[in-house]
Order: sequence, then structure tokens, then C-alpha cells
Amino acid sequence: MLTKIAVLVSGGGTNLQALFDTGLENGEIVLVVSNRKAAYALERAKARGVETAVLSNYMEPDPAVRDEKLLDLLRSHGVEVVVLAGFLGILGEKTISAYENRIVNIHPALIPSFCGKGFYGLHVHEAVLERGVKITGATAHLVNLGVDEGPILLQKAVEVLPGDTPEVLQKRVMEEAEWKILPAAVDMICRQVKEEKQ
Ligand code: GAR
Repeated sequence: MLTKIAVLVSGGGTNLQALFDTGLENGEIVLVVSNRKAAYALERAKARGVETAVLSNYMEPDPAVRDEKLLDLLRSHGVEVVVLAGFLGILGEKTISAYENRIVNIHPALIPSFCGKGFYGLHVHEAVLERGVKITGATAHLVNLGVDEGPILLQKAVEVLPGDTPEVLQKRVMEEAEWKILPAAVDMICRQVKEEKQ
């Protein structure tokens, strides 16, 4: 039996696409949830025939209620593993506790550098260029109550090159690191869940 996965998204969904394209040996994506109605990631899910849902701050302004609604949604789909693939919202305590060691996030830097509050999306790459580091990368890690503080699963380094703009660097980090380590880390956790059930 494949492990059932929900992928949480907010934007373009290239990491979701990488999960679809790489294929998972031990898991299947049964649900994609966005906190933004206009996220292109939702179209990618629909194109694959995967069920989608939107749960935005606008639709549900109370964070505690939003947390409960998300958890209900995940449970009603039998979700066992949650993947944050460019999800720029904050998960609530109930969801995080219910899925302890079962939530995988992809972060576009080498944690513990350039992570934590305010470090998301393009801002991360802007900060990397501003600091002038020569090596950056991506980290797949488990999610706990801290921001970007959970146990690290996989990391991959990427070179910063002369003339890089935040956009150029973001694309290189995605292509060389994120789209490779995210599917690998997710499959690793799905395999663990599968083995625990046997
Ligand atoms: C990715 O670079 C992902 O690592 C980042 O947002 C981008 C989403 O792209 N996530 C974070 O910064 C989380 N802290 P995508 O929607 O094309 O996958």
C-alpha cells in the first residue's frame, strides 16, 4: 500500500511538478491544498487529476479554526504524510502535532543559514547575494513547531556565480537542488510509514 500524501502549496508549484515527474516509489499524492486561490500549482494538480482544495486566510481568518479545518481535510483524505512545497503559510499546532515527523518542507538555502522568520521565496536568494556567500543550496527537513528548525533529511549545495540575480539563483537552486532532494526526502518518509504499517 502506497503512503498517502497531501502537498501544500502557495505559488507556481514547480516542486509539486518535480514530485509528479520524478515519481514516488512509496507514496501517492491524493490531495493538493493551497492557501492562495490563484496558485498555479492548483492547475498542475488538476492536470494530473489530483483533488485540490483552497484554504486561505481570507476564507478563514481565525488561525485556530484554519488549523482545525486543515487537519479535518487531511484526515478525511486519509493523509499520512504532508509535504510543504513552496507553502508560504504557517501551519497550526494541531496539524503539526498530529503529523509529528510526517511533515516535509523544502527550504531554498542550506539550513541553518538564511532560514527562519522572513526567509522565504526570493527573499532568501536576495539575502544570499547580499551577504556574498559563494555556496548556497537547498534543505529538505521535517517540520516541528519552530520555523525551519526540524531535523534535516537531505541537503544539496549549489554554487553562487558572478552576475547572479535573485531570480537566476533561485532557478539554479531549484533545478540543481530542490527538485532533486524533495522527491528523495518525501519518498524516504513514505517508505518509513509503509514499513511501520507492515
Ligand atoms: C521554492 O523555492 C521553495 O523552496 C520556497 O518557495 C519556492 C516555491 O516554488 N519555499 C520557501 O521559501 C519556504 N520557506 P514552487 O511553488 O515553484 O515550488
